Amino acid sequence: MAQDNIDEIKSKVDVVDLIQEFIQLKPAGTNNFKANCPFHHEKTPSFMVSRDKQIWHCFGCGEGGDIFGFLMKMEGLEFPEALRILAKKAGVQLQYQDPAISNQKTKLQDICRAAARFYHKVLVDHPKAKVVRDYLKGRQMKDMTIETWQLGYAPEAWDTLNKYLVQKGYNEEDIFLAGLSLKKDRGVGYIDRFRNRLMFPIWDIHGNVIGFGGRWLGEDKEGVAKYINSPQTLIYDKSRVLYGIDKARQDIKKEKLAVVVEGYMDCISSHEAGVTNVVASSGTALTPEQVRLLKRYSINVAFAFDQDLAGDNAAKRGIEVAWQEEISTKIIRLPQGKDPDELIKKDPAQWPAAIAKAQSIMEFYFESTLAKADLDNVEDKKKVAKILLNIISKLADPIEQTHYIQKLAGLLQVEEEILRDKLGQILNKQKKPVSETKGDDKPAPKYQDRFAVLAERIIGIALTAPVNLTYIIDHLLPEEIMEDKLVRLYKNIIIHYTKKQVFDYKDFIKTMAVEDSDLAAYAEVLSLRSDHDFSEEEDEFIKQEVVGGVKDLKRHSIQVKLVAIQQKLSQSEKANDKEAIDSYTQEFSKLSAELNKIS
Ligand code: GTP
Ligand code: MN
Repeated sequence: MAQDNIDEIKSKVDVVDLIQEFIQLKPAGTNNFKANCPFHHEKTPSFMVSRDKQIWHCFGCGEGGDIFGFLMKMEGLEFPEALRILAKKAGVQLQYQDPAISNQKTKLQDICRAAARFYHKVLVDHPKAKVVRDYLKGRQMKDMTIETWQLGYAPEAWDTLNKYLVQKGYNEEDIFLAGLSLKKDRGVGYIDRFRNRLMFPIWDIHGNVIGFGGRWLGEDKEGVAKYINSPQTLIYDKSRVLYGIDKARQDIKKEKLAVVVEGYMDCISSHEAGVTNVVASSGTALTPEQVRLLKRYSINVAFAFDQDLAGDNAAKRGIEVAWQEEISTKIIRLPQGKDPDELIKKDPAQWPAAIAKAQSIMEFYFESTLAKADLDNVEDKKKVAKILLNIISKLADPIEQTHYIQKLAGLLQVEEEILRDKLGQILNKQKKPVSETKGDDKPAPKYQDRFAVLAERIIGIALTAPVNLTYIIDHLLPEEIMEDKLVRLYKNIIIHYTKKQVFDYKDFIKTMAVEDSDLAAYAEVLSLRSDHDFSEEEDEFIKQEVVGGVKDLKRHSIQVKLVAIQQKLSQSEKANDKEAIDSYTQEFSKLSAELNKIS
């Protein structure tokens, strides 16, 4: 059952289109694409995607697979979650009773989705929610917006949601695990986590509801937070959440800019005003995970925070994180005391104008630091130098560093050299022990025997450039390859070729997929690697690669045999077994002669 679904989804979701949603792919050959691998750190692309084969593979770290494998790896998902997402993309209805397509995470997603519907319905229909509807009208929110963002109302009662979900068949413990209820202090039972709050469902990039933010609607009260969010759950990880990312991501890519605001309301208002490349950080410092998520869509991020960034506050930490992630950061300046929502409600044209005027972060730091200083005052001068040098020290590019040191020297009217010395002191203090440097520059390519690699290359060429196939078959025996799996593949290639007297790659893969799907997949990877390595090379070059490679493999296989014979020979000598000594000696010289013939 599930297999039918899987095949249908695979036929409808193109691997290149899918991967392109996450990383930039460049064409490589007719129907292949390449990129820097998203799964390990590298500077030249060894990540290949094939439209014909509908697979991807990285020849640097060895990861590879199909659409499901990519999504699972990219998003840290298990199969059922990936299946759902891709089914939605493909417009394929899944058989929900199939246990293969649900797990704990998808169950919690179902509960959150049901809760979002419930809250929304209460907001839109229930008489008791009239005040909330009026409140939103007062804030000039359109019905359409309430619909699009599925805003809701969590009633002021103890357990309305819990009761509703239980009656829909969900289990109380799961509702609790989805972050929607609290366990009663005393006795058994649960109460709703969100009560008398305006509810903002929070979606992941695929449009699954994973949690909620809830704005308090009552009077300001001691001990009652203005906003509460879902707690950490199996599906809600606060450090990865970006409110609005599901709706903004394509526009972030198109505009080549992600705008980050603080509040849910700011984000919604911005989208309502037609500025749709906007997400909200929900009031905390941006985490490296959030920045990496944004980086998938654009390396330009503009922050709109109505705060003073000179101090050590959350916004500043977020900016530094963005910086470390090698993202280009800008600051959107807002009129004192106004957040984007207020700005938009006052005059919608001001918001895109403010974004267009975003300052580079260094400009911003210079301006805001200097605004508070009196440069005739020595103490102020020292303070300014300290703050700005600290920031300059974080720039990775020496040319940029020099530029800003010169600028600072000019402003403070001090020698550049003095500032350089000070910068040197700061940098020395910052130096971290080696072990603390980026743990992310992950796995070095798996170690593979040089000859195993060579054999794979030759077989790859056999698959992709059949003109070389006759030569290979005539000169390389299967037993001259040492790796079992590759030997099996090679034998099948020979059989296929011998039967038909031509080698048709597609036909071969089709046959193999039925007989031995594992081998078929292996062949696809080898052929893709061959495209990666050789698609831009001349035929003659490839031919030489084949001739040289086949020779090396033959030589290697003889050498391996020679070593084995030598061992047996010395054993026979110890045992004084004349007959065995004779036969091994003969074999040895025969092989040595063969070896000499090759070189
Ligand atoms: P409105 O006052 O309705 O316009 O909301 P706002 O988004 O402008 O509120 P504010 O500027 O006070 O806060 C910005 C964001 O910070 C909010 O959207 C929340 O995500 C977050 N936030 C604000 N107050 C709290 C709080 O008390 N607790 C938590 N966890 N987050 C908060
Ligand atoms: Mn606001």
